[in-house]
Amino acid sequence: MDIGGMRTEYNDRKNVFLEADIEVKEPFHLFSKWFQIIKDDPKTVEPNAVCLSTSTKDGTPSARFVLIKGFSKKGFVFYTHYTSRKGQELEENPKAAMTFYWDRYSRSVRIEGDIEKLPFKDADEYFFSRPYNSQIGSLSSNQSRPVESRDVLLNIEEDLRQKYGPGEVPRPPLWGGYLLKPRLFEFWQGQTNRIHDRIRFRMPEDGEPDGVLTKQGEEGWIFERLCP
Ligand SMILES: Cc1cc2nc3c(=O)[nH]c(=O)nc-3n(C[C@H](O)[C@H](O)[C@H](O)COP(=O)(O)O)c2cc1C
Repeated sequence: MDIGGMRTEYNDRKNVFLEADIEVKEPFHLFSKWFQIIKDDPKTVEPNAVCLSTSTKDGTPSARFVLIKGFSKKGFVFYTHYTSRKGQELEENPKAAMTFYWDRYSRSVRIEGDIEKLPFKDADEYFFSRPYNSQIGSLSSNQSRPVESRDVLLNIEEDLRQKYGPGEVPRPPLWGGYLLKPRLFEFWQGQTNRIHDRIRFRMPEDGEPDGVLTKQGEEGWIFERLCP
C-alpha cells in the first residue's frame, strides 16, 4: 500500500505553543496541564497509553505500549511482568523512553529517564484493585514467552477461574511496577501551518555551560525550543 500521499491537516485551533504560555517553567506542571485537558475530553480513548522504549545492554531497541497508572514529580508508573521482554531489557539497561501521542490534540510528549522497580506493596495495592478478569489474565500469562495455541491459554485461564474466585486471585510473584524518573521531557504541538512547536525540558549535564538558546527553568530544569 502506497501511503506517501497521505497528509493530515493538523488542528486549526491556532493554539501556537509559546514559552510565554508555560506558567510554571518545569515539565511536570505542564504535563499535568496537558494530560488533564486530554483526559477530561470524553472523546479521548486511553489518554494514558504510552509507547515504552527499552533496549538491551548492547543497544538494540524495542518498543511497545503500556498504560501509565500514575505520575507525580517522582516519575511515571506502569505495571507489567518483570520476566517479560521489557522486564529483561530493563534489568540489563535500566533506562527507558516513553512517547505519548494524542491525535485529537496534535500533541505528543516524549519522556526519557532512569527506571527503578517499585516495592511489591505498590504492586499488591494496584493488582488487588484490578477487575477479576484482568487479574486472571495476568496470572495466566507467561508474558513474552511462546505458547502452543490460544486454546492452551484459554485452558490455563479456565483452570485458574476454577481455583480462584473473585477476591482470591494472588498477584503473580514477578508482576510489579516500574517508575520512570524523567531527566528529559519534550512537548510537541502540531500546527496547521506546519511550523510545529517543540519545547524540551531537561536536567543539565554536570558542568554543562549555559547555552545561548537555553533558558533556566524552575527546580533545576532548563528548557529550549527545538526546530520542528
Ligand atoms: C494500549 C495498550 C496498553 C497496554 N498496557 C500494558 C501494560 O500496562 N502492561 C503490560 O505489561 N502490557 C501492556 N500492553 C501489552 C504490551 O504492549 C506488550 O504486548 C506486552 O507488555 C509484552 O511486551 P514485551 O514482550 O515487550 O515485554 C498494552 C498494549 C496496548 C496496545
